[in-house]
Amino acid sequence: MVKIHPSEITPEHVYLNRRQFLLGAGAALASWALGGCACPQEPEQQPPSGTSAPIESPQAGDLEAELNTFEEITGFNNFYEFSLSKTEVARLAEGFVTSPWDLEVGGLVSTPRTFGLEDILKFEREERIYRMRCVEAWSMVIPWDGFPLRKLLEAVEPTSDAKYVRFETLYDPERMPGQNASVLDWPYVEGLRLDEAMHDLTLLATGLYGKDLLPQNGAPVRLVVPWKYGFKSIKSIVKIDLVAKEPVTTWAAASPTEYGFYANVNPDVSHPRWSQASERRIGESGRRETLLFNGYGEEVAALYEGLDLTKNF
Ligand code: MTE
Repeated sequence: MVKIHPSEITPEHVYLNRRQFLLGAGAALASWALGGCACPQEPEQQPPSGTSAPIESPQAGDLEAELNTFEEITGFNNFYEFSLSKTEVARLAEGFVTSPWDLEVGGLVSTPRTFGLEDILKFEREERIYRMRCVEAWSMVIPWDGFPLRKLLEAVEPTSDAKYVRFETLYDPERMPGQNASVLDWPYVEGLRLDEAMHDLTLLATGLYGKDLLPQNGAPVRLVVPWKYGFKSIKSIVKIDLVAKEPVTTWAAASPTEYGFYANVNPDVSHPRWSQASERRIGESGRRETLLFNGYGEEVAALYEGLDLTKNF
């Protein structure tokens, strides 16, 4: 029997309001995309500086009460391998075949290994409800199913030379039509410091809302790093390498002054083209205050002691 989570059931008027917002946002974003912007796109609305648009105080506690709906999470996506239009990704990714799937894990490890999807699904999975904050100043709350990346890394035994982890998305322009356009340097690459990768909050997700991931959310396996901007959470991963040096990542290479390697959510460090002090939660009309480390400071701040977060943005 299919288990339906209570938060999946949305009252109709709320659903309709949300849909209206999504349609509006989709139109705006499509026009930016036509304008040829390859970067994560600008926020749909920012209060002009100096005005006092209402900003809700964050309530860090009850995340379950804030869950976004399944429709929102699977209908408003960033996945440039399929489209630059958030509301088109789901349609264009429909039918993307994610089984069989191989994830090759190697580099500076004692026991390199290729994990088939069936091996990945053998790791004990749990539900983690995390905030997700896109660098474009919108956010969601998502109930992921997955397991700590640490468990996979421990299985291949990193050597003492390994200091960083490099991730790569599938490169297959026939199956991922967006890769036929040179908006980014394909394949999409992301990276973490080894201690960030080993942190308990860092997840490899294979599902959400108790169901297998859909292609638009990065099926069959994607990274989720909840205290960093969403672009660090690389989708549809085929390769993970343990390396000695900080890897060159896709967005940092595309625009180094806008997208740093660390990309920790930080309301005090503006994007050169917009403020990061507040965000719009998808499904809501007002704005919320953005939290340092996306509200996960208690868990992760120690990773960055002594590091200048304005320089290492
Ligand atoms: N991974 C790949 N391979 N390609 C992408 O375009 N977009 C990133 C990230 N992972 C992206 C990616 C960005 S900008 C965000 S905000 C999140 O995925 C969005 O995840 P979601 O669509 O599941 O909400």
